[in-house]
Amino acid sequence: MDGDKKLTKEAVLEALRQVHDPDLGRDIVSLGFVSLEDIALCGDQVKVSITLTTPACPVREEMRRQAQEAILALPGVASVEVEMKANVRPTGFRGPRPVAGVRNLIAVASNKGGVGKSTVAVNLALALRNYGARVGLLDADLTGPNVPTMLGLPPGFQADKGLSIVERYGLRAVSLGFLLPPGTAVIWRGPLIGTGIRQLLHDIPWGEEGELDYLVVDLPPGTSDASMSLAQDATVTGVVIVTTPNAVSVEDALKAVSFFEKLHVPILGAIENMSYFICPHCGGRVDIFGHGLVEKVCQEVGIDYLGAIPLDPKVREGADRGVPILEAEPDSPVSQVIMAIAQKVAAKVSIQHFLAQEPPSQQKD
Ligand SMILES: Nc1ncnc2c1ncn2[C@@H]1O[C@H](COP(=O)(O)OP(=O)(O)OP(=O)(O)O)[C@@H](O)[C@H]1O
Ligand SMILES: [Mg+2]
Repeated sequence: MDGDKKLTKEAVLEALRQVHDPDLGRDIVSLGFVSLEDIALCGDQVKVSITLTTPACPVREEMRRQAQEAILALPGVASVEVEMKANVRPTGFRGPRPVAGVRNLIAVASNKGGVGKSTVAVNLALALRNYGARVGLLDADLTGPNVPTMLGLPPGFQADKGLSIVERYGLRAVSLGFLLPPGTAVIWRGPLIGTGIRQLLHDIPWGEEGELDYLVVDLPPGTSDASMSLAQDATVTGVVIVTTPNAVSVEDALKAVSFFEKLHVPILGAIENMSYFICPHCGGRVDIFGHGLVEKVCQEVGIDYLGAIPLDPKVREGADRGVPILEAEPDSPVSQVIMAIAQKVAAKVSIQHFLAQEPPSQQKD
């Protein structure tokens, strides 16, 4: 060790200023990911713990490597141990009314029916759970709830005892379908839907067993009552738009984008679902609904393209038998695609936290 220059925690912290979060565009010290209390020195050995804003951080390992390099470059350092932790930050108080016990609310929408909103919502929630986040799933499709079946819970199983949160696959889930026996139609006009959504958001004790990092909300098709109530009654961190690659679906998705933008709800990005099909017989790729339009349109309208989920029979089978693909085959190629999308969503959510802290004049959304 350098005799006259003693290694200090301050020097280590200063070195860590070289590590930048690429999504937030600032160094990890000024972002508050690490401070002097997180640094331990023992002779020429350094231990640091860095707390990211999501366990699903896509650049976690890259940041660990950069931190190690920056500290090792200091004189007098022989070894470095960097522990990466996560503490999901809440969106903040931008928007109408935060949902108690929920740090971030992610809505999944499309406008068009049948493009895979519920499938994406369920598997996105499970992917975030796989990274170690505490996740809830709210089925906001009050008249056509599919979450019970997709989670393998018999519709109507709570008919006698009343609606409550169900722990399933590590998610805290709620659906009106838990109350309704199979085949029962809910015939509600707009105001009743609005009341229903409000109650599901604010009367359910989402945080009673610890705050949720993310509440994923599966919206019904269309942009009317449920979406409107959600945007007006809750602080929505952002919306994930799901669309198939065909022009009519993209056209509808764009209406959803414009709808949420008018309601000042940030758009986290768009997913191209049923993007392509890998033939199980020949391994060849077939672009059933076309391919590439979603990414192009995202660029045109200035929203993030989050990725493409293939059309895979296992996704449909998993949904129908109540074991979603992320649960049934977490290592399958399609699950890996969804895990990567979840990282992008989580990164976008973290950005919203920091945007909400900026003075209103500097906010972009
Ligand atoms: N990537 C995929 N590969 C194979 N099947 C899929 C995929 N995505 C969705 N599906 C299937 O397509 C059907 C429609 O999906 P889903 O119910 O998730 O759509 P939705 O947009 O929620 O529909 P709705 O508008 O009725 O709420 C389901 O049977 C689902 O299992
Ligand atoms: Mg649905």
